[in-house]
Amino acid sequence: MPPSGADPDPTPWRGEIGAALAALPTGRRRALRSFSRADTGSGALLRPTGGGPPLLDLASNDYLGLSRHDAVIAAAAETLAAEGLGAGASRLVSGTRPVHERLERELAAWLGRERVLLFPSGFQANVAAVTALADRRSLVFADRLLHHSLLAGVRASGARLQRFAHNDLLDLERRLRAAARAAPRQRRLVLSESLFSMEGTSPDVAELADLCRRHGALLLLDEAHALGVLGPGGRGLAWGLADVAVISGTFGKAFGSGGAFLASDALLGEWLLQRSGGFRYTTALAPPLAAGALAALALLQRQSGAGGALCRQAARWRQALAEAGWGRPAGAGPILPLIVARDEAALALQQRLERQGLLSVAIRPPTVPSGTARLRLVVRQDLPADTLPRLLNALGPRHAAP
Ligand SMILES: Cc1ncc(COP(=O)(O)O)c(C=O)c1O
Repeated sequence: MPPSGADPDPTPWRGEIGAALAALPTGRRRALRSFSRADTGSGALLRPTGGGPPLLDLASNDYLGLSRHDAVIAAAAETLAAEGLGAGASRLVSGTRPVHERLERELAAWLGRERVLLFPSGFQANVAAVTALADRRSLVFADRLLHHSLLAGVRASGARLQRFAHNDLLDLERRLRAAARAAPRQRRLVLSESLFSMEGTSPDVAELADLCRRHGALLLLDEAHALGVLGPGGRGLAWGLADVAVISGTFGKAFGSGGAFLASDALLGEWLLQRSGGFRYTTALAPPLAAGALAALALLQRQSGAGGALCRQAARWRQALAEAGWGRPAGAGPILPLIVARDEAALALQQRLERQGLLSVAIRPPTVPSGTARLRLVVRQDLPADTLPRLLNALGPRHAAP
C-alpha cells in the first residue's frame, strides 16, 4: 500500500505480472537454450553455447536437412546480394519482388491449387486464415490437439469454438450434424492438421474432406509438418483433394527456410488477399528466405522420393523402439513421441539422452495434455547411420526408465 497521501502505484500491472510469474510451477518454467552448429557439413550436430560436448540433433524440424543444402544457401545468398535483406514494405505497397511471385506460382502448381499467398510465418498465416474465414457469427470445429496458432485465430475471430476428439471423425460428424440442424445457415469451419507436431499422428484426410463437403463446412488443413515428407512426392496429405478448401504450410520445417503460405482456389485466395490483415499489414517475406524456399521446392521436385525414404526410416525406428519395449510411436511420419506420462520422467529421459550426446526435447503441459509428457524424437535425413543403435543404447530398457 502506498503511504496515505502518496500517489498510487503507477504500474500496478508489474505486481500482477510478477505474482503470476512467481505462481508458475518451477518444474514447468521454460528457459531459452542456445546452440551453434558444431559442424558445417551435415548440420546434425549442435553445440550448446554454455559449453559441453556437441549433441546430435533429434529435435528440430529440418526433416530433410535442406537448411544446410548448398543450393538453398546459394539461392538465399544470391538474392541477399542482389535484393538486400528485407523487403522494406508490405506486399501491397512496394514489397512484392519477382521471387515472391515466382514462389507463389510454383507452389500453386506443385500443390495443384489456383492461388498461393505468402506470409512471414506460419503462425501469422494461420491467424490470418481463420480470421478471414470466420467471424463472430461462425462456428469453428477444432481438433482437440490443434496447434496454438489456429486457436489464437479462432479467439481473434470471435467465432464460437467446439473441440472434437483427436482425429475422431465420428465425433466431428456428430457435431457437424447437430450444428447444421440448429443453425443451417451458420458458417462452419473445420480446423485440423495433416501431421500433428507433438503426436506424430494424421487424420484420414480424404475422409475428413469428404465429411466437410457433405456437411457444407469449410476445411482448413495445416500441413506444416507434412509438406516435403508426406503424400505423393512430399506434396502433403491434401494433395488431389479439392474439398480441403485451404492449406496452410510453412517454410520453417522441411523447406529449411522461413516464412509460410496459404493455398486455395482462386475465389478464396482473392478473399484472403482482400480481407486478411495478416497478409496486408505486414512486411513482405524477406526475399532471401523466399529464394531459399524456392530452391528447396526445386529440390523437393527433383528428389521426389526423399519424403518416402524418410518415412521408411521412421518406420524402422518405430519398429526398433517397439521391440525394445518402448511401445510403437503412433503415426507414419518423422515425428516419434515417446509418451512417459510424468513431466519429471520426460525431463529425466531428456537428460539421460544428453549425457549420451543426443538432443531430444521433453514436451510437457501445457504444450501437451496433462499426464502425457513425452520425449519428442525427430528422424531427419542427415543423421549418421549409427543413430538408431545409439538412441536405443541411450534409452536403455523401458522397465529401467525414469
Ligand atoms: C502445426 C504448426 N502450424 C504452424 C506452425 C507455425 O509455423 P511457423 O514456425 O512458420 O510460424 C507450427 C510451428 O511451430 C506448427 O507446428
